Amino acid sequence: MISRKVMTLNEFILQSQKGFPFATGELSNLLYDISFAAKIVNREVNKAGLVDILGTTGNVNVQGEEVKKLDVFAHEQFLSSLRISGHCKGVASEECDDFIDFDNKHAEGAKYVVCIDPLDGSSNIDVNVSIGTIFAIYRRVSTTPHCTLEDFLQPGNQLVASGYVIYGSSTMLVYTTGTRVNGFTLDPSIGEFCLSHENIKTPEKGKIYSINESYQQRFSPGVNEFIRHCKEEDKAEGRPYSSRYIGSLVADFHRNLIKGGIYIYPSLSNRPKGKLRLLYECNPMAFLIEQAGGRATNGHQRILDIQPTKLHQRSPLYIGSNDMVNKAEDFIRAESQLLAEV
Ligand code: AHG
Repeated sequence: MISRKVMTLNEFILQSQKGFPFATGELSNLLYDISFAAKIVNREVNKAGLVDILGTTGNVNVQGEEVKKLDVFAHEQFLSSLRISGHCKGVASEECDDFIDFDNKHAEGAKYVVCIDPLDGSSNIDVNVSIGTIFAIYRRVSTTPHCTLEDFLQPGNQLVASGYVIYGSSTMLVYTTGTRVNGFTLDPSIGEFCLSHENIKTPEKGKIYSINESYQQRFSPGVNEFIRHCKEEDKAEGRPYSSRYIGSLVADFHRNLIKGGIYIYPSLSNRPKGKLRLLYECNPMAFLIEQAGGRATNGHQRILDIQPTKLHQRSPLYIGSNDMVNKAEDFIRAESQLLAEV
């Protein structure tokens, strides 16, 4: 008999379900649908460099097919996979102004909705930098035949599952259903995501800080103080810390998750709410980092406790290893106290 050590994502999901005799399998199927669409997006992302040969957006490639921008392609791919399977009642996508209700027969009675950033960091595609998909799964709160805005405007503490796919030097899917964070690497030879990073825990103490320092003049004094602290020489504490910023949230987050560090997209003087979207980027990553033992805040409040009021709402984000997020918050708190005293 041939024995193998590899466990595929599907096998893992099925095995995890065994402990829950009343599970309907709907969430498992939904995760499968997302992983399936991710494989198709991965195939196209890997071909991105061929765009000059095959044709650019709006053009027709050698097979006579219209070539779509990759972020539009990814959006459509996830949407169609989720719509066809019927395990999800609706989707809110970073690529769409409004949420989409699946009114097809398959989706009748489906109890989940998905918030998704189909291709985050897409401005990096042309230069072969890692990009990713970020997803968040909620249980519907409305009981109407069609899903409603309130199904999507739930705080992150109501998340059922979240995860991301990183299209990098290898392609990985990392997700949590609220207990552990597990990572699966795509084996292209068999077309399966295989368990490669079981029960990921982020280091308690980080040594990497990730922030776009070119905005330094737009940062608040507290953020600048934190950066100064990161750069300061302190042998005992292992400072200066390393600065690493790819400009692709999934890639920056993934590295810091494994190695320990903090990712910051703060409030800027010209962008008080920062850049990142609460529903599609901050919440799913915050749910993951907390399950991995880290923290995520907007500088003042736990990300997962923020009540969203709009689909495309933005939020500052401080996310990563406990000690670094705590330290950044200390500086922000000190800044607020100073301002209050003036
Ligand atoms: P986009 O999808 O437009 O490339 O945005 C990417 C996001 C996020 O992934 C990344 O961390 C951040 O924007 C980078 O923004 P800055 O260029 O302002 O640093």
